[in-house]
Amino acid sequence: MKIRNAVTRRGVEGGGAVGFLCGVACTLLLVWWHHRHSMVFFVDAESRTLPGTDPSNDGEAAADVAQVQEPPVPRAMRAAPLPDLDTVPHLMVSFGNAAYFELAQNWAKTVQQIGSPFLIAALDEGMMALCLENQLPCSKIDLGKDEAHINFRDNFQAFRAMGAVKVRFVLDLLEQHPALPLVVVSDTDAVWLRPPWTYFQQRPAAEFFSSSDCLSHQVEVEWRRDHGQPRCGHVPGNGDGHALNTGLFAVRNTEGAKAAMRAWAGMLVDPAQERADDPMHREMDDQLALNTMFEGQGGSVSLSAEDPRTVLVWDNKLRLQVLPVLLFSNGHVAFVQRTPWKMGVAPIAIHTTFQRYHIPGKRSRLREFGLWLMDPPEYYGAPAPAGALGGAGAGAQPLQLLAYELDVAAFVAEAERRRYPGARMPLFEKNWLGMSFQLAALRDALAAARMLGRTLIVPPVWCWCDYDEHPHILYRCRIKGTDYGVPFEAPLDYLIPVAQLDAYGVAYRHSSFLQHPQVPASLRHSRAAVDISPSRPANPFPAPAVTIGHGATVWAGIQLPDLLRVLQPVQSSAVLVLRGHVPGFLGGYGPQGGAEAAQMDELFAELLGNDGAFCCFSWGDSDQQYDRLRYAWPAPLAEEWRPWEPPVLRLPEWCDRVSAKHGNQGFTRLRQHPCAFLRNASLAAEAADDSGPYNTGWEPH
Ligand SMILES: *[C@@H]1O[C@H](CO)[C@@H](O)[C@H](O)[C@H]1NC(C)=O
Repeated sequence: MKIRNAVTRRGVEGGGAVGFLCGVACTLLLVWWHHRHSMVFFVDAESRTLPGTDPSNDGEAAADVAQVQEPPVPRAMRAAPLPDLDTVPHLMVSFGNAAYFELAQNWAKTVQQIGSPFLIAALDEGMMALCLENQLPCSKIDLGKDEAHINFRDNFQAFRAMGAVKVRFVLDLLEQHPALPLVVVSDTDAVWLRPPWTYFQQRPAAEFFSSSDCLSHQVEVEWRRDHGQPRCGHVPGNGDGHALNTGLFAVRNTEGAKAAMRAWAGMLVDPAQERADDPMHREMDDQLALNTMFEGQGGSVSLSAEDPRTVLVWDNKLRLQVLPVLLFSNGHVAFVQRTPWKMGVAPIAIHTTFQRYHIPGKRSRLREFGLWLMDPPEYYGAPAPAGALGGAGAGAQPLQLLAYELDVAAFVAEAERRRYPGARMPLFEKNWLGMSFQLAALRDALAAARMLGRTLIVPPVWCWCDYDEHPHILYRCRIKGTDYGVPFEAPLDYLIPVAQLDAYGVAYRHSSFLQHPQVPASLRHSRAAVDISPSRPANPFPAPAVTIGHGATVWAGIQLPDLLRVLQPVQSSAVLVLRGHVPGFLGGYGPQGGAEAAQMDELFAELLGNDGAFCCFSWGDSDQQYDRLRYAWPAPLAEEWRPWEPPVLRLPEWCDRVSAKHGNQGFTRLRQHPCAFLRNASLAAEAADDSGPYNTGWEPH
């Protein structure tokens, strides 16, 4: 395999590797905790080249970044130079194909922000072309003369061999550049928040570092034998197995590490390792191979009492450190548990695993946490540069926003008092109610924003029950082996399928939007409160001259014509903030608005699609009709408005029809399953237990 850079690109080669990276990175699990503060942290405002800021008034930053606007020059001359691999002190590497280019570009921007030399190995010619166009230092991986004949989608062996290509590529770098001490590899669906170099320097004994799917920082801190938690088997003395995630790893240029890389690549091209007879587990990909290799031979032992976190694996031939999830966070630890920020640190890197919506889901979470660097200044409400190509230009509408502040926890607490006097409500029921409440608020807010021609800032999402691909979530409404409690603030994708919002062109921003340092202060400060009153005020349309200028009041059941009239005096404010404990306040479009109301109802149903539901009651290919339970969706706006009533969770009529296949019947008896707690009061009491995190004591049932 040869490494070549963009200027030497030649004939078209197979582009069938699309989806390969996702195969490595898309872990479909879901989950959630207790701290009520919003702890979203952002890229430091002092960082060079914040996304959406104009680098032209910062000469130094502009020079550092490959993305600066340059006058068009002939394509062949524009390839970004590759770093000098014989002199750089370390190197960041990723792998990309054209289908994942946007992620690759975002990855590169985060790497540029931490000032690291990097290169991207391009897996297809489309990627190479995009690298040229966008000034990214890319090397085409040359797969050899057979490449054009490989159909990756259908040829499992070839797919597996692609994993070997990645491993070989890194090995070649190390072998061809003996003075290159350290290579850090991360998939394009990772982001770097700060440099990892000190971290590696301070751990000189280890030759190989890998991230993991472990979900508990606590378990990693305690570092004890027989901890009994899943996915954290890298702690020596635990039988549960490694859950190394090769989407992020680092290799030192040592003989031991190179030998391990050779063996790893060898496993991936060895036909004996293919498990084609087991369709559920045939994917001996690079990740499974590495886990198998490290588990297979002798397990792991600590290097010494002084350095217990460096472990010997692979027959004691390799010194491995697993990167702690606090600092090299997977998607659950970062975006659902929010552990790093709760512990007062920013992660060094985040790998956007543990989510359900593929690239749009990853992009949404990165946006929510200020780590998506691909949006232009206009996205943040900065005026578009005059005459900008494709920009809205000088005559463009300034960004006008509508936010909605709600107290979901207060609503759920009130419902608990009414329905379970003297007792507690099961977590699943709290979640179902809370999500139904938040869906109603979201619908009203979306409709009001459209009526006003504003972009909606969606409210933060609060959950009492996590999602998980496995129904074991119905034990405690949290994934086992985690550090969070309930309720927890969840990413937006817990409430609504974010891919749909994008697909339907809905104008929205994430709940954290106004905290982004790219948002101009002039926008942030241009703000008016819009209180929601339970009833129409005696004087609904006060003349601005008689008010003291703080905002406006709307009321339960208000319709479009009155809404526009009430808000007219505050329309010049960039941000209107709806406030008040009146769910379902929006009365619709008024007597003339039947068609618009129907349109909005249809849009909302399309946005939710098959979601707007709890997802995870069954396992395997049976009982899929009993896998979901819809949250209560708001009454259509086209219907006559009635005050919103908290919905009541009813016993599903299918409880006794679930089959015994894959244990599905058994799951209906788990305490957080509505078929269980709605029929058994003592289970309901157990299901109300929200105590503590979930990283101790596995309860077998
Ligand atoms: C209700 O649940 C409890 C466990 O909390 C169990 O011991 C009991 O048998 C259940 N009752 C019925 C009728 O299933």
